Amino acid sequence: MKTKTLIQSIPKVELHLHIEGTLEPELMWRLAKKHELSLPFDSIQEIANAYQFDNLQSFLDLYYQGAAVLIDEDDFFELMWAYFLRCKEQNIVHTEIMFDPQTHTHRGIDYSVFMPGFLRAKAQAESELGITSCLILSFLRHLSQEDALLTLAQAEPYYDAIDAVGLDSSELGNPPDKFIDVFAKAKTLGFKRVAHAGEEGPPEYIWSALNDLDVHRIDHGVRCIEDPKLMAHLVANKMPLTVCPQSNLKLCVVNDMSEHNILDLLEQGVMVTVNSDDPSYFGGYLNQNYQALDTHLAMSDEQFIQLVKNSFEASFLSDKLKQKWIKEVDKLNHSLSHN
Ligand code: HPA
Ligand code: ZN
Repeated sequence: MKTKTLIQSIPKVELHLHIEGTLEPELMWRLAKKHELSLPFDSIQEIANAYQFDNLQSFLDLYYQGAAVLIDEDDFFELMWAYFLRCKEQNIVHTEIMFDPQTHTHRGIDYSVFMPGFLRAKAQAESELGITSCLILSFLRHLSQEDALLTLAQAEPYYDAIDAVGLDSSELGNPPDKFIDVFAKAKTLGFKRVAHAGEEGPPEYIWSALNDLDVHRIDHGVRCIEDPKLMAHLVANKMPLTVCPQSNLKLCVVNDMSEHNILDLLEQGVMVTVNSDDPSYFGGYLNQNYQALDTHLAMSDEQFIQLVKNSFEASFLSDKLKQKWIKEVDKLNHSLSHN
């Protein structure tokens, strides 16, 4: 067990974070009032109390409903800026943020509204807080590939500001190979690629994300442990998994944090990383996720440092910056453990 100080003091990266999942009940309440929208809740506390889920779908239903309070450019700025302030608090120095365009375009809110808000927050985070970031345009997999292709095309004015495409929403029944053409198109356009797979879906979905979508990382992926051939493949290819422990607990992917397999995966040589997914809905930002592993899985200092280094390694930062940060982590860890 380590002190909270080590988790707090080490510079960290986040690689699996949905910006719509950082909408705190207070901001949801305030924006609903601002736009004179009615919510199916009578107080901020009632919103927070509703965050009990049986599975991924029961969460997604609330998550898409909550995002409906995001209307103008300032709302999107405020949402992302609030997350960057949390990053500062938690000593997150680089973050790769997913956003779901279709959640907004399908209710008449265009790229020209949310992108300027996001880009303003991103630029301000870099200049005022010293936090770097990437943006990952994520397709909703419960919708069609045609809709994903249209969504990619609509993003054209912002291609320079977007680093990667991703795939999220309801996994079961929507395997990665449904999106072969749009991922191939994104690759041609020069975007990196990630996909949620093996959260609720079987190992075959992870294989499909790797083989059909040619991804750089798997989001979640914890069900890989059921397939020894897949495990060997992930280890041999240093394929990163962006694991989200509190999310897995809240969405009943695991029954108890003490049963989470992340440290087993780490010990077997899989490039696992720790992330918060939708922190407002799942009860904690990045440091709380590391803290949960400490409390319930007795994570060692060495395991913690390896997880942090994996995140730098698995990021879209340049090799030079990765090495700079990994050195910094080693230096700080050394000085903290000798004090
Ligand atoms: N899985 C799938 N879709 C999502 C998630 C998730 O964990 N979070 C937000 N959208
Ligand atoms: Zn996710």
